[in-house]
Amino acid sequence: MLSASSRSAFTRANHLTRSFATTARAAQAVQKPVLEKEFKIYRWNPDEPSKKPTLQSYKIDLNQCGPMILDALIKIKNEMDPTLTFRRSCREGICGSCAMNIDGQNTLACLCRIDREGSKDTKVYPLPHMYVVKDLVPDLTLFYKQYKSIQPWLQNDNPPAHEHLQSIEDRKKLDGLYECILCACCSTSCPSYWWNQDEYLGPATLMQAYRWIADSRDTHGAQRKEVLQNEMSLYRCHTIFNCSRTCPKGLNPAAAIAKIKLELATD
Ligand code: SF4
Ligand code: SF4
Ligand code: FES
Repeated sequence: MLSASSRSAFTRANHLTRSFATTARAAQAVQKPVLEKEFKIYRWNPDEPSKKPTLQSYKIDLNQCGPMILDALIKIKNEMDPTLTFRRSCREGICGSCAMNIDGQNTLACLCRIDREGSKDTKVYPLPHMYVVKDLVPDLTLFYKQYKSIQPWLQNDNPPAHEHLQSIEDRKKLDGLYECILCACCSTSCPSYWWNQDEYLGPATLMQAYRWIADSRDTHGAQRKEVLQNEMSLYRCHTIFNCSRTCPKGLNPAAAIAKIKLELATD
């Protein structure tokens, strides 16, 4: 057992070691050379509707910033321009709220690494072909309305008294479908969705429609397919595959759409 005086000497030594380490880390950070990078970010303010949207330039030192595009946006907002507006929440690819178009690709800002080539600027726009609420925030009202229209919940006319049991094989059929975080990257990369979004449901919503059609616990598959059996809701997909190429979660909405079409053709 340590005496009171040895304990206090030990605590002091511990404290000194930690403060030396902190000072050393701070010195190291100070020594890193500046690595400047330019970000050109889409700006539009609904309070000034007569002003056209612009690309605003911000230069930041990458050695004083985290590795992801979302880190850069947060740094700009916190240190340079609090008016810059964007959505974000989880910072780890789970909530889907930071979806935007970065250097021409729809993706999640929190999963997209900053290109450290200082010579090349990075352009950031909101998701394409959507109304803009402000800056990088798209209006997702229609997107969510479409999602609601496919009734994305379990429907069973004879529910079991306790649990809905499912075999391992049937559960496996939901893999690659349930992981969707509804970020809308796929739908807003789909040319058919750009031109027909008031009637065509788009890849994200259609993949979720299939997620419920494929669920062995759901007994409303026939009704679910019936509402898709028209010219616009489903058949505007021309299998261009932009959706699957862009999905930041590595999912394949085009394949899910093809499976719905196959089921409708063979029913
Ligand atoms: S399928 Fe992928 S891109 Fe489309 S909404 Fe889901 S997670 Fe996002
Ligand atoms: S495969 Fe279908 S849903 Fe996907 S981008 Fe092409 S048209 Fe759109
Ligand atoms: S902040 Fe949640 S997905 Fe990017």
